[in-house]
Amino acid sequence: MGTSRMFRIFVVLGSAFMILLIIIYWDDVGASHLYLHSPVSPGPRIPHPPLQPRPHTSRTPSFLSDIDAFVNQFLEPGTGEPTDTAPADTGNQSDKAEERYVPRREWKIHLTPVAAELRERQEQRRRLLQEMCANDSVAFPGKNRSFDDIPNKELDHLIVDDRHGIIYCYVPKVACSNWKRIMIVLSESMLQEGVPQRDPMAIPWDLVHNSSMHFTFNKFWKRYGKFARHLMKVKLKKYTKFLFVRDPFVRLISAYRNKFEVRNEDFYRRFAQVMLRRYANQPTPPPSVDEAFALGVQPSFSHFIQYLLDPQTEKDMPFNEHWRQVYRLCHPCQIQYDFVGHLETAEEDAELLLRQLRVDNVVEFPTSHRNLTASSWESDWFGAVPPEARRELYKLYEPDFRLFGYDRPDSILNE
Ligand SMILES: *[C@@H]1O[C@H](CO)[C@@H](O)[C@H](O)[C@H]1NC(C)=O
Ligand SMILES: *[C@@H]1O[C@H](CO)[C@@H](O)[C@H](O)[C@H]1NC(C)=O
Ligand SMILES: *[C@@H]1O[C@H](CO)[C@@H](O)[C@H](O)[C@H]1NC(C)=O
Ligand SMILES: *[C@@H]1O[C@H](CO)[C@@H](O)[C@H](O)[C@H]1NC(C)=O
Ligand SMILES: *[C@@H]1O[C@H](CO)[C@@H](O)[C@H](O)[C@H]1NC(C)=O
Repeated sequence: MGTSRMFRIFVVLGSAFMILLIIIYWDDVGASHLYLHSPVSPGPRIPHPPLQPRPHTSRTPSFLSDIDAFVNQFLEPGTGEPTDTAPADTGNQSDKAEERYVPRREWKIHLTPVAAELRERQEQRRRLLQEMCANDSVAFPGKNRSFDDIPNKELDHLIVDDRHGIIYCYVPKVACSNWKRIMIVLSESMLQEGVPQRDPMAIPWDLVHNSSMHFTFNKFWKRYGKFARHLMKVKLKKYTKFLFVRDPFVRLISAYRNKFEVRNEDFYRRFAQVMLRRYANQPTPPPSVDEAFALGVQPSFSHFIQYLLDPQTEKDMPFNEHWRQVYRLCHPCQIQYDFVGHLETAEEDAELLLRQLRVDNVVEFPTSHRNLTASSWESDWFGAVPPEARRELYKLYEPDFRLFGYDRPDSILNE
């Protein structure tokens, strides 16, 4: 009787422990397993365990730090290298395995130090963010909440690269295609004939923006279950986090030009038709973007601003990411960004950032012959927008202006 009870307890405890292990790590084990044995298959690949050094936990041991250590041990490299266990039974397969193994390149040695003013500029931007997050005169919904209170779906703009320990918060209309390309190259999530694609510009446009190419925080739930939040926090602490921003009003002009001045069926149906119906006296707007363009029926920039200011817009659904405020996309008061790039200084910032991330040997920032919407004609765009609407619009985007150090556009607002 006694032994059978002991035995039962033993079985129950053992199963519970196994189930716990499976729940937490099944995905990782499954992923690296898949990686080892799936031969050269092009297409997206499951993100790889990180190559981060083991953290130095100098805190007093606690349950959480134990989990930290355990988790990191699990995520450490070594077991994941393709040559380790690649089946060597046939000559061809091991050849392939060797082909697939791309050795890591050496870090680039720089003879010139980073210019002091660039360093100082980053320091200032980071300090400004901290000050503005602490300053109660900058207020916006969700500013005071903790990271744990941010809903999962609002973490969908944080792209994680475990290989290099990088987290990028992408802001649409701020060179985000180029940085997404770089994140794909770094995470080696796109294979070209068996080897990771190393040229950012060779990645097709539709793949760059296909969310299956990017491992974002909101996908952590699927992979790590209830340990997702804890793991996110570990990564947020240890990885280098960056984002790029630009003047908020210029970003809006760019969004309008890019989505409504050129034919875009999707944006026409989802947004332009609504604007035409509500603000342009068009109870039945043309059914397709081609017909609208043929008739010369388009929402004006003023209609677009009116749409943004209409309380009904946010009631219908949250702002589209192309015009959603950066503070809502990237949570700069909950996430302490290590690097804040400005589009206005994109090239300098990109060079410095890639160097700080120690990946300037792997990838270069694509030089784009982009045509920045110059602030000199910012006032031209706002000419047709009523002054009252301009000031309301500023209120809507004021946190972005202040958090990231963009001056209040007085010439536009004081009219
Ligand atoms: C290797 O592959 C080639 C064709 O790809 C085949 O002719 C050859 O027999 C294979 N060798 C082995 C050892 O499998
Ligand atoms: C908060 O910001 C306001 C306006 O910019 C400024 O006058 C004030 O000094 C700031 N407060 C603190 C504590 O920094
Ligand atoms: C955040 O907390 C401060 C006091 O700690 C309060 O004054 C402020 O109104 C709060 N902001 C929001 C948006 O809730
Ligand atoms: C994204 O990529 C996946 C896998 O390659 C594909 O199945 C899916 O259709 C793509 N989605 C879009 C919107 O292109
Ligand atoms: C940039 O845009 C301005 C204003 O639209 C235009 O005059 C100029 O020619 C453009 N420059 C390039 C290089 O496209």
